[in-house]
Amino acid sequence: MEKRVTVPLGEFSYDVVVGAGLLAECGPSIRQACGGGSRCTVVTDSHVGPLYGEVLCRSLEKAGVRTLAVEVPAGESSKSFDQLEMVCEAMASGGMDRKSFVVALGGGVVGDLAGFAAAIFGRGIACTQVPTSLLAQVDSSVGGKTGINARAGKNLIGAFHQPRLVIADTNTLQSLPGREFREGLAEIIKHGVIRDAGLVREAVPLSTRDLPGLVARNVAIKASVVASDPHEQTGERALLNFGHTVGHAIERAGGYGRFLHGEAIAIGICAALDLSVRKAGLPTAEADVVRCALKDAGLPTTLPADIRPDTTLAATAHDKKFEDGAIRFVLTKHLGTAFVSNDITRSDIEQSLNNLRPAAQRT
Ligand SMILES: NC(=O)c1ccc[n+]([C@@H]2O[C@H](COP(=O)([O-])OP(=O)(O)OC[C@H]3O[C@@H](n4cnc5c(N)ncnc54)[C@H](O)[C@@H]3O)[C@@H](O)[C@H]2O)c1
Ligand SMILES: [Zn+2]
Repeated sequence: MEKRVTVPLGEFSYDVVVGAGLLAECGPSIRQACGGGSRCTVVTDSHVGPLYGEVLCRSLEKAGVRTLAVEVPAGESSKSFDQLEMVCEAMASGGMDRKSFVVALGGGVVGDLAGFAAAIFGRGIACTQVPTSLLAQVDSSVGGKTGINARAGKNLIGAFHQPRLVIADTNTLQSLPGREFREGLAEIIKHGVIRDAGLVREAVPLSTRDLPGLVARNVAIKASVVASDPHEQTGERALLNFGHTVGHAIERAGGYGRFLHGEAIAIGICAALDLSVRKAGLPTAEADVVRCALKDAGLPTTLPADIRPDTTLAATAHDKKFEDGAIRFVLTKHLGTAFVSNDITRSDIEQSLNNLRPAAQRT
């Protein structure tokens, strides 16, 4: 049984369809959602393409769409000007026009890159997201943020470009490596913290029992946050950054490549919990529930001994959330709710990072 969640954005509204085994049949609905054009470019990566490219392209061809497949190397480094240029040039020489559309088949990297190509090709053409990683299904494919990385930082170049449709086939998650699966659980637990306290406890058990249900429940959370603040202007959407200010800093301090995004976010969530207990009155028992859920998910909850709080903070200075030196930081008073605080100082964060170190190394 497929589940459908609508992202309500007025004329830019779209559906996220979640279910097991959608890939082979989704051609007609993608074509229809993307305006009925007869040409499309399927952008994928070198891991996902060989596994699912053919079945998706066949379904599109059966629906009367001539399909060009473009593959980028798997990995974060493909969110680059080089690969963006390659994709756009392939689209141009492959005869795509303004009625053509893009289908992003892969994890968050492909979704961000292909979504951005769709945002700028022909000054913007339709795009469908077909996320194949847990993180992409519950998070990155919904909300319309697209982009690539700059040398100075991640996701610095991009555009808001909402997809016309999202197809999340949970069967594709069977081939996802365990580590990449677990990082998706970090974003799910984050959704629980900010909007759905029950989800924090249920996330890990549900991930082995009812993946479509779990994904749809998360999409509904992301959809409601995005709908209330599509362009990150009111602060509501910023709540999705819970755990991310420190998480991004840890990713950077680890030189990227050491931690997966979700692993760094798990540690960042623990820092945000520590700050929430000390500065916002979050009951310790509630913080413990989240820490246990992260541990059960096989995610890290302590700062590795070789990462020093001060080096991590040096990285934090590059985080986009430090506007004009003021630190906007997402905290929770009670699980299931979150708010943006303007009261957190650098030394508060340093203290929290220190609290995440093994006891023998704390200063
Ligand atoms: N746009 C947004 O709102 C948003 C939100 C969160 C994260 N992101 C971005 O998402 C990216 C991280 O996403 P990700 O974790 O999906 O990374 P990813 O796209 O690199 O995928 C992780 C790995 O899993 C592989 N993979 C994906 N699906 C697979 C499958 N079904 N079977 C086997 N292998 C598969 C990929 O090839 C890759 O090696 C980051 O670039 C991050 O900035 C964007
Ligand atoms: Zn994230």
